[in-house]
Amino acid sequence: MTFKLFVEGPMHDHGRAMLQARSDITFSIHEKMPAEEMKAAFRDVDGLIWRLSPLTADMIGAAEKLKFVSRYGVGYDHIDVAALTARGIPLAICGDALSASVAEHTLLLMLGVSRQIAVMDRITRIRDYATRYTSPGHEIQGKTVLLIGLGKIGLETAKRCTAMGMKVIAAGREASRAAAAQHDYAFVDDFHDALPDADFVSLHLPGQGDGHVLLGESEFAAMKPGAYVINTARGSLIDEDALYHALTEGALGGAGLDVLRNEPPHPDCPLLALDNILFTPHNAALTEETGQSVSEVCVRNMLDAIDGRLDASCVVNRDIL
Ligand code: GLV
Repeated sequence: MTFKLFVEGPMHDHGRAMLQARSDITFSIHEKMPAEEMKAAFRDVDGLIWRLSPLTADMIGAAEKLKFVSRYGVGYDHIDVAALTARGIPLAICGDALSASVAEHTLLLMLGVSRQIAVMDRITRIRDYATRYTSPGHEIQGKTVLLIGLGKIGLETAKRCTAMGMKVIAAGREASRAAAAQHDYAFVDDFHDALPDADFVSLHLPGQGDGHVLLGESEFAAMKPGAYVINTARGSLIDEDALYHALTEGALGGAGLDVLRNEPPHPDCPLLALDNILFTPHNAALTEETGQSVSEVCVRNMLDAIDGRLDASCVVNRDIL
């Protein structure tokens, strides 16, 4: 039997070579294909390898032969998991393959925003050496970071923050509590309780399927004056209008944002005009190293599913297995 795969690309050469090595697999890689065209292409596919385009119930319905979906990454708020589960189709994610990359990126944003790195780069280029005296940055050593979510990425971030001399407070669900206890991090059940104590608040949890916003007007008001918000998780977790007000009215010191509600943002997005935000284009997980490791884990999950030996721990809707 031949398995036909549709890859929502791009795909790293390493993963591509793993698929090419299998004589029982055919695959095609598509980038930026409109949803209607994808639906037509899905008609006879057995498996999907999926990056960040929405995968709706309607599209899943069009893939009549679909047996398995392998996420090329870890988040899945853009995928209708209920529609997959209803058809008994497992969705696998890439476990720990990108945790170090995202944790490093979180530190980069924390350091970059507190040392105003984008502004400093700009003033150096125009030889404005005077501004460095009037606009000093802040150290992260000795500061408190509230990590909302202490899963794989949160934990890697916590280790790095500790190494930088920061105090870590973690918040999250039961698994986060256990991880915090194991590593001796302070833990709060409700992250709101720690907002007034944190110099940095960093998000490390999945986008909420129901679009639930975690940080809005009342959360920003509860934060320490001058605190920084860091988001390498999902743009949908932050109320961007409220963030804009908190950043322009001086309540917050700045933000480091790898993710936004709309990506790329609309050119008129008011956040783009603010100097106290350091942006990156949702590339926290896009290092050369993760290019290799994520494509490997993602393809291995697909091959394991085809070979009937998929590890349940990487399956989101594992109840159906
Ligand atoms: C990237 O944002 C991912 O969820 O893999």
